[in-house]
Formats: sequence, C-alpha cells, structure tokens
Amino acid sequence: MALHLSITSSYHKGWFTAAQCAAANHQQLYMLYLLMMTEKTESIVVGFIETNCWIYPFEAKEQARSCVVIDPGDEAPLIISRLGELNLVPAYILLSHGHFDHLAGLPDLLEAFKTGVFASYPLPKIGIHRLDANYLGKDSIKVHRESFIAAGGDPAYIDALWKSLPDPDLLLEEGGMTGPLKTLHLPGHSPGSAAFYDEKTEILFSGDTMFKGNWGTPNA
Ligand SMILES: [Fe+2]
Repeated sequence: MALHLSITSSYHKGWFTAAQCAAANHQQLYMLYLLMMTEKTESIVVGFIETNCWIYPFEAKEQARSCVVIDPGDEAPLIISRLGELNLVPAYILLSHGHFDHLAGLPDLLEAFKTGVFASYPLPKIGIHRLDANYLGKDSIKVHRESFIAAGGDPAYIDALWKSLPDPDLLLEEGGMTGPLKTLHLPGHSPGSAAFYDEKTEILFSGDTMFKGNWGTPNA
C-alpha cells in the first residue's frame, strides 16, 4: 500500500534529515515520506504552514479527465494552475479533517471553478466527515480560532486568511465511497479525521491521522 500524508510538518522541504528522524524515532514516517514522493499522485505544497494538497486522477463516466482534490489548504491559484497543466477537472474536494490549514483555499478555489474551462462543469462536491462538519460554513471562524489557539497557534493566522467557508455537500461516513475513494474514519487528530483509500490501486491518503491531538511535527 502506498501512503500519502497531508501532514503539516515540513518533511517535504527537507527540514528534517533522515538522521533527525531516526533520533526522533520517526524512521518509519520518514520512509513513508520517501515512498510518498515516488508515487504518481500529484502533490502541491500550499500555504504558510506548508500543507500537502493532493490531486488524484480517476476515470469517471461523466468526465473523461476527472480527479479528487484532497486538502486544499491555501494558494488556490497554484492548485488551479496544476489542474490546468494536467487537464483535470475535479469532481470532489475531500477534506481529511477540518483544520484550517487543510481547507483555507476552498473559497478561492470554488470561485475559480466558476470561470474559464471549469465553468462548463458542475462545481466539485465538498466532502468532510460529519464529525468535523462544524469546521465548514460561514460561521465557522469561531471554531477555527479556538482550535488554533488550543494548538498553540496565533489566531491572527486565521483572521488574515479568513474568507467565508462553504457548507459541505457530502457528510462522509465510515465505509462510504466518494468516486474511487473509501472513507476510513480514524478519529484522534480531530473527531472527524478520515483517510481515503482506493482499494483498486491500494493508495491511501491519510491526512494527519498519525498525529493524535497534535500537529504534524516529528515530536508529535
Ligand atoms: Fe490537522
């Protein structure tokens, strides 16, 4: 099985060397990171916290070049640009959980999907596990500020990036299918944390599952 992380640490920038990971007893995570970087899925590092946003293509009857966007943390223009290069139109945007660094790009992304080549396709459906649904919607800023403060962050980060968030279209449940991806409910990092698994290709998008009640750092 290939494992894809959307962790909010900076393994992807090489901030943590293999030796440092070994010292932190995170050899396994580092190996998983190396595996992640060799797969065919598309990863874009987005936002101040450098979250991994994933683009996962799949064949759909209604759209020849369809895909799922997972965890659009920020920087919608980067995601739109890459989708254009790949000639992909997303049918779904899935959120592994509701933390702001994984979904801040949603408002700009949805606006972009109303223009250009994307305008002739239906807007992608936004899916999140029902237990994290309170992180979406126009009034969710309070939840995000409280969550960020509880994790030791400065809520100014939330305030600076805040745009009214859409409501979810899909409330995900354990075992439910969204395109090719099965939802696996894995609470711990947040109540509604989920991973998404393609049984056919054996690819798993894990989100921040490894980090129980903490951020994605090597000390978590
Ligand atoms: Fe998180």
